[in-house]
Amino acid sequence: MTENHLATSHLGAFDYDPAPESASIARLRDAYGLFIDGDFTDAASHASFASVNPATGADLANVAQANSPDVDRAVAAARHAYDTVWSKTTGAQRAKYLFRIARLIQERSRELAVVETLDNGKPIRESRDIDVPLAAAHFFYYAGWADKLEHAGYGANPRPVGVAGQIIPWNFPLLMAAWKLAPALAAGNTCVLKPAETTPLSALILAEILQQAELPAGVVNILTGDGATGAALVEHPGVDKIAFTGSTEVGRLIQRRVAGSAKRLTLELGGKGANIVFDDAPIDEMIEGIIDGIFFNQGHVCCAGSRLLVQETIADEVLRRLVRRVEQLRVGDPLDKNTDVGAINSAAQLAKITELVAAGEAEGATRYSSSCELPSAGYWFAPTVFANVSSSHRIAREEIFGPVLSVLTFRTPDEAVAKANDTNYGLACGVWSEKGSRTLWVAERLRAGVIWANTYNRFDPTSPFGGVRESGFGREGGRHGLEAYLDV
Ligand code: NAI
Ligand code: MG
Repeated sequence: MTENHLATSHLGAFDYDPAPESASIARLRDAYGLFIDGDFTDAASHASFASVNPATGADLANVAQANSPDVDRAVAAARHAYDTVWSKTTGAQRAKYLFRIARLIQERSRELAVVETLDNGKPIRESRDIDVPLAAAHFFYYAGWADKLEHAGYGANPRPVGVAGQIIPWNFPLLMAAWKLAPALAAGNTCVLKPAETTPLSALILAEILQQAELPAGVVNILTGDGATGAALVEHPGVDKIAFTGSTEVGRLIQRRVAGSAKRLTLELGGKGANIVFDDAPIDEMIEGIIDGIFFNQGHVCCAGSRLLVQETIADEVLRRLVRRVEQLRVGDPLDKNTDVGAINSAAQLAKITELVAAGEAEGATRYSSSCELPSAGYWFAPTVFANVSSSHRIAREEIFGPVLSVLTFRTPDEAVAKANDTNYGLACGVWSEKGSRTLWVAERLRAGVIWANTYNRFDPTSPFGGVRESGFGREGGRHGLEAYLDV
């Protein structure tokens, strides 16, 4: 049952004039090659594909499709750079390059934000204020470690691993590139990075930045392509370490592929985060935290607070306020600075969301979707809240990776913990309460890599991030993030 019972006119919401950022700031080229050994080069097969703007369906630019021969070339370039240059540089020299990259990201931040928004569909407010500044912050942070590795807690003379193969997803394209490259380079590794097929463009701008920074040729190679390109990188005997962020399904496949080899592996996979709200939490902040926890980046967030666990005594009020707040979210043109919720990244992701939402309705949960008008072109889904969800429903168990919140209730802290842990995943949780002792009691019992207290989706390069169980293993960020790239 769909209950769009709150019309916008009841809300007295402000009207905003459009405030679009200009797409021309992106200065995109018509076509991009592969970034191998310091230069842009054609794929051996000359194959290419278009990256699409999911908000309009229009093609943005053509990128090369890397295949096995290109992976060979990129891995050889990374190995050569490792042996002849990068493993011979001092930490202070590596830091110099990382600082340069960080500063160049800042210099080109407006262009990067527009490219990211065009290619991914996320609101410009988020790419401008979160993705791009955090990407720069990661390079700054790991630049600081490059000449202090002996103080990182991994022995007196920690050695790099060698050549790292890094495969990243489409939800935070530039930021995930930064999460992968910055610690790897600081620790003295060379890299072959594969961006996701729907969002390759910001990584190619980053390749230009690496050239501007005069990073030695071959230290970072960037191969655009699809799952087959990623698989070829995973299989390549010249790669010493694989770092993957993406679906649990592909993560499993990769783990099987590297089993029995000397390759090291870190996996950052999916999640079904519980956001637990107690009746003593400050309600206005909590409502904003719930909204941010699920609708940030259209819900395309592995650590999204996609299961709201609300104490029964306040469940009615929380639901009422949530539905009203959802109705106020501004959905539409991602380049508009007023937009809260942008486009769904791809037709495939929209199909997955649509299918799971239909399953939620079929299984008997109560659906509230925003009555916002959705653009006619591109891929869109109205922000949605499901009430009366039970733990067995698919929408309470499977990662939707879209703007869809499932609301469940609990009576006691024990029940909250039991329900929060009733998942195969273990990436992130949130706890909202006025009482620190209760928050700590709950946090100690939650099985998740990250636990936020009275906030959600807060990221900082100094803080380790990663999961347990089907959310993967290994940590990114902080001192812990160096471990994946050191031979310890
Ligand atoms: P995916 O796992 O297929 O894609 C992630 C990356 O892996 C992409 O660069 C892709 O080209 C690459 N890849 C695909 N198959 C590969 C293979 N066999 N070997 C090596 N690399 C491979 O994720 P997809 O299909 O884009 O999204 C499906 C679902 O995965 C989403 O609905 C969401 O639930 C989850 N997901 C989770 C993410 C996270 O941040 N943990 C990010 C993206 C998706
Ligand atoms: Mg795209």
